[in-house]
Amino acid sequence: MHHQQSKVTFGIVIPAAGRGTRAGQGCQKAYRRISGDTVINRTVKLFRSWNANCPIVIVHHADDTALLEASIDRDSSIHTTAGGAERGESVLKGLRFLSTLQDAPSHVFIHDAARPFASHQLLDSVSKSIQQEPSVGVIPGLAVADTLKKADSNGLIIATVPRDGLFRAQTPQGFELKVILEAHEKAAAAGMNYTDDAALFEELGFPVRIVPGESENTKLTYSSDFEEAERFLQTKRPSTKTPVPDVRVGHGYDTHRLVPGEEITLCGVKIPHKATLLGHSDADVGLHALTNAFLGTIAAADIGFHFSDKDPRWRGASSDKFLQHAAKLVAEAGGTITHCDVSFVCELPRISPHRDAMRDSVARIVGLDRSRISVKAGTNERNGFVGREEGIVALATATAVFPGSV
Ligand code: CTP
Ligand code: MG
Repeated sequence: MHHQQSKVTFGIVIPAAGRGTRAGQGCQKAYRRISGDTVINRTVKLFRSWNANCPIVIVHHADDTALLEASIDRDSSIHTTAGGAERGESVLKGLRFLSTLQDAPSHVFIHDAARPFASHQLLDSVSKSIQQEPSVGVIPGLAVADTLKKADSNGLIIATVPRDGLFRAQTPQGFELKVILEAHEKAAAAGMNYTDDAALFEELGFPVRIVPGESENTKLTYSSDFEEAERFLQTKRPSTKTPVPDVRVGHGYDTHRLVPGEEITLCGVKIPHKATLLGHSDADVGLHALTNAFLGTIAAADIGFHFSDKDPRWRGASSDKFLQHAAKLVAEAGGTITHCDVSFVCELPRISPHRDAMRDSVARIVGLDRSRISVKAGTNERNGFVGREEGIVALATATAVFPGSV
């Protein structure tokens, strides 16, 4: 006779009564926080966000009542009960509690408190398997990837174990509630020791299916697992703000026209030339671009805004004064300029013979070591106004570091 199973409903048992001895460090591992939230609350929320009202039974150590209350977001379908000395005993107590509830479900997920990283997809696949085969147990398993060795107590290999068909068992493990409860009762009565709940099911001759597990679904066991978990949460949630150093790069551009003359000033260095640059003050296009870059690090408008030639303070001022003033504004905003890079686009004069003089000049103006000042140039391949030697372009970047983080 085909037996039509009545509607499948789920409850969750979360064993959390262990002592977490291998993880060490302060309070029991379920109550430790990773990235601001406790392990147990992450596990509870995993199920609650998956199913808004299924009963959840947390099995805690008798000594941890207060710790548990301080560690979870309660709702009326979250129940707590004290566990036992062994995991099996704790699970049994949870199953008993669940089966006495008024709204006792037909099926149960048993899930270690110490596995907060299972995904909803994993819960879905365990649940789907149960819906399809309600009397078949289901566990997530990861196929073993490494070659397995059996060794004696001296560390000498006895055998190589073929890994084909071998899986690492994870939780949540799903079962029909009354069957797994009965299995646990029997095991407890017989004083049996077992490593997971599926083993009991198997023992009784019931089938258990393996669905694909997840490598992220690790059981937090050692202290290093917590460090790993912290890193995992940071990569998993880019939206979570990870503090980064406040390093800013300002960019600057300037150009001036070339007119007949005898001398040109670039980055504060006077170079004999058949032309000169036309413009405000000494028309030092390099320092103007760099001044714009400095202002860029504090988003403080541009050189024209700060140094109007209508302002008597700046009329006829040499360009090193502009750069120094911009450097002062950056310093007042808390920044430290750490690097300057100036690029000229010009056909003539050739910059390379003057490069180091320019680096020294900028280094002196801003008070940095020469190794932090870069000056370079390229021609415009005779193209456009630069190519026709009608003007020179300068581009610059400045790097500034600010205290604190973003
Ligand atoms: N557990 C339990 N009751 C026990 C032992 C374990 O409820 N008597 C729970 C743990 O709290 C954990 C899960 O079973 O959520 C898996 O066990 P394990 O990772 O071994 O945790 P602990 O026993 O706490 O850790 P340790 O073995 O390092 O002491
Ligand atoms: Mg243990």
